[in-house]
Amino acid sequence: MNIFKKMNRISSRISMKEDVFRLTSVFLLLFFAVLLILARWFFDGGRAGFVQGHPAPRTYLAISPMKYIDEEKTNLLRSRVESTISGVLVKDTEAINTMTSQLKSLEAGDFQGAMIPKDLIAILQEMPERRRQTTLKAVATIGFQFLIKENNGDEFATPAPEKLWGKIEELNFPAEMNNLIYQILEAVLRPAVKIDEELTQGLRNDLAASLKPIEQYLKVGDVIVEKGKIITPQLSRILLSQGYLQQQFPWKILLFSALLILCWPFWIQLPAFAAGGRQKYETNEIYIACIVGAYWFAEYISGLLGARGVAIITLSGWVYLVLPFTLGFQVVFGASIIASILLTSFSTSGIVLVSFMGLVAAMTGPFFLKDVHSRSHLWRQLFIAGLLPVFAGMLARWTIALEMSWQVFLFACLGEALWGTVVIAFLPIWENFFDIMSPLRLMELSYPTQPLLKKLQIEAPGTYHHSLMVGTLAETAADRLGMNAYLVRAGAYYHDIGKLRRPHFFVENQMEGENVHDELTPSLSALVIIAHVREGLEIAEEYNLPGKLRQFIAEHHGTTCLSYFFRKSSSQGEKLPREQFCYPGPRPSSRETALLMLADSVEAAVRADRRNISGIQDLEKVISGVVESKVVEGQLDDVDFTLKDLAEIKEALIYALQSVYHGRKVKEIQSSDESSQSPTPSQGEGGENSQSKQEE
Ligand SMILES: [Fe+2]
Ligand SMILES: [Fe+2]
Repeated sequence: MNIFKKMNRISSRISMKEDVFRLTSVFLLLFFAVLLILARWFFDGGRAGFVQGHPAPRTYLAISPMKYIDEEKTNLLRSRVESTISGVLVKDTEAINTMTSQLKSLEAGDFQGAMIPKDLIAILQEMPERRRQTTLKAVATIGFQFLIKENNGDEFATPAPEKLWGKIEELNFPAEMNNLIYQILEAVLRPAVKIDEELTQGLRNDLAASLKPIEQYLKVGDVIVEKGKIITPQLSRILLSQGYLQQQFPWKILLFSALLILCWPFWIQLPAFAAGGRQKYETNEIYIACIVGAYWFAEYISGLLGARGVAIITLSGWVYLVLPFTLGFQVVFGASIIASILLTSFSTSGIVLVSFMGLVAAMTGPFFLKDVHSRSHLWRQLFIAGLLPVFAGMLARWTIALEMSWQVFLFACLGEALWGTVVIAFLPIWENFFDIMSPLRLMELSYPTQPLLKKLQIEAPGTYHHSLMVGTLAETAADRLGMNAYLVRAGAYYHDIGKLRRPHFFVENQMEGENVHDELTPSLSALVIIAHVREGLEIAEEYNLPGKLRQFIAEHHGTTCLSYFFRKSSSQGEKLPREQFCYPGPRPSSRETALLMLADSVEAAVRADRRNISGIQDLEKVISGVVESKVVEGQLDDVDFTLKDLAEIKEALIYALQSVYHGRKVKEIQSSDESSQSPTPSQGEGGENSQSKQEE
C-alpha cells in the first residue's frame, strides 16, 4: 500500500481516539465544576446567603477594600438641595393688565364692571354720588401708585396692610371712607408675580447635576450591612462584588465557568496549533482533567483555611512532572483562571489573586520540577516552587490592598507544605490509575540497582548491554522529537527481560563458538526466541512493572517474523505455516514503543552488519532500510509518525550510533570487530535475528 495513504489512515484513526478523550475530559471538568459549586452552595453559606429586599441574615464585613458611589446618599443629597428651591418667580403680566383695567374702571366710576366683591358694590351703590366719585378716584390714585411700582419691578407682592393704610390716611378722609378704600384696594391689588414651573425644574436639575456623587470607601473588616437591615439593590451589588453568595443558586458562575470549560480543549491545544497543528507530546487529557478537578477542590480548601491561591502547587507539581512546559503552562494557568471564577463569585480581587498566583506557578514550576531525582528532593523543590506563587500572592494582596499579615503568610507557607505532601502522596495513585509515570519513577526504574536490571546484568550481560545501547539510541531520538525520553529509556532497559529465562538462546549472551540453535530444529529455535516476549510479560508481572513498561515488552517486535528460521525450516522440508515464525504482536501502539522497535532493530542490524558498513552513507542505508521495512510491513500502522518524524528519527539514530562508538569512525569499528563477527542478517528483524545468521 502507498505509504502516504497508509499514514493518512492511521492519523484519522488516532485523532478519533483523541477526540473521545477530549470530550470525556470536558465532561469531567464540567462535572467537577458543578460539584464544586454545589459544595460551596451547601457548605459555604450559599443557602444562607442574602436576598435583595430582605433583612440581612448576618452582619456582612468587607473582605476586600473597595470604592463605590453611594447612590442612595447621593440621591438623598440631591433631593435636599432641590428642595431648597421653592420656585422661580416671574412677572405676571396678565395680573398687572387685569389690575390696570380694574383700576381704570373704578376711576371712570364703573365700579360694577371692576370685578370687586358684591358687598363692596352694594356699599358703593348706597353712597351719595359725589362721595362715591371721590372714593373711587382715591382708590384709583393709590392703586396706580402701587401698580407703577410693580411695573417698574420694584415690588411684585401685595402691598403690606400698614403701607396701604398709611397711603390712605394721607388723604384725610373720614374713617368709614378710608375703610372702604382699603377694602376695595385689598380686593383689587394682588401679587403681580407667579412661579415658573419649567424654570424651577430646570434650575433644580442644574443644581442636582452640579453636585458630585458621594463616594464611599470600604476597608477590610468594615461593616457593609448589619444583621437585620434590609438589603437594598446597592448593598446587594456590593455584597456580590465582595464574593458573598446570594440565596439563589449561582447560575451565572456555573454558566460562565461552563463556557470557559467548553473552550478548554482549544486552550490546551493552543501550543500544538501554534507549532503547526500537530501535537508533539502524548497527553492524557483525562488525567489532566482529574488533576485539574483535584486542584479546584484543594484550592477550595485553601480558601477555607485562609490561604487562597496556594493550592496551585498541587496542580503545577502534578503537571510538570508529566507534561512539557508549553502544555503544562496552558493547564496550570487555564485551570487557575477557572478556579478563580468558581471560587470567588466574580470578586475582582479574588480573580486577580488566584489567577496571578496561577500565572506565576505556571511560569516558574518547570524550573524547579524538571530535574527531580528523589521524593525528598521533590518535596523540597515543590516547597520552593510553591513559595514563588505565595510571594506573588502577597504582592497582589499588597497591590490591591487585600488583607496582608504575617498570619496570612504563615498560612500560605503551611499550605505549601501541606499541598507539597499531597502531591507526593497522590503521585503514585495517579501513576497507577492513569498508567502515567513521572520522571522520578522512570528514573528510579532505570537505576542499575533495580532488582530486575541487576539480574539481567548478571545472568544475561549481553542482553543488558544491548538494552543500554537501545536505550541510548531511543532516548536521543525521543529528545529530538520532543517525546518522553525518560519513558523510552526505561522501556528500552526492560524490553528484553524475557531473555532472562533462557539467556544462552540469544546471540548476545553466547560465548564465541557455541550456539545452542545448532542442535535445535528451526521451528523450535523460533518458538524459544518468540517466547521471550511472553516470558518478558510474565517476569514484568512477577516484578510488578508498570503497564507502560509492559507495553514496550509486548510491542517491541510487533508482528514481525523470523524469516531466517522460516526459510531454514522450509529448506529442511518442514511444511510449517509462516505465522508460526512470527511474533504474536501487538504492533506498537504509541510513539514511544514504535521508536523503541526502530531503535532495537537498528541496533541489531548495525551490530550484525558492521562488516559491510564503511561510512555514514552505509549507516544511513542500513537505518533507512530498517525504518522503511517496518513501515512497509505495517508495524507502525497504529502510530501517527509523519515522514518528517521518521526522517528525524533516522538522523538521531545516526548521530547516537556515532556517539555510542565513542566518536570512532564506523570504518574503524568495522576493522576492530570484524574478526569475531558473523555474516549480515536480513535487516530490521530485531536483535534476536542476528542469532539466525550466526547459525549459517
Ligand atoms: Fe526482543
Ligand atoms: Fe532487543
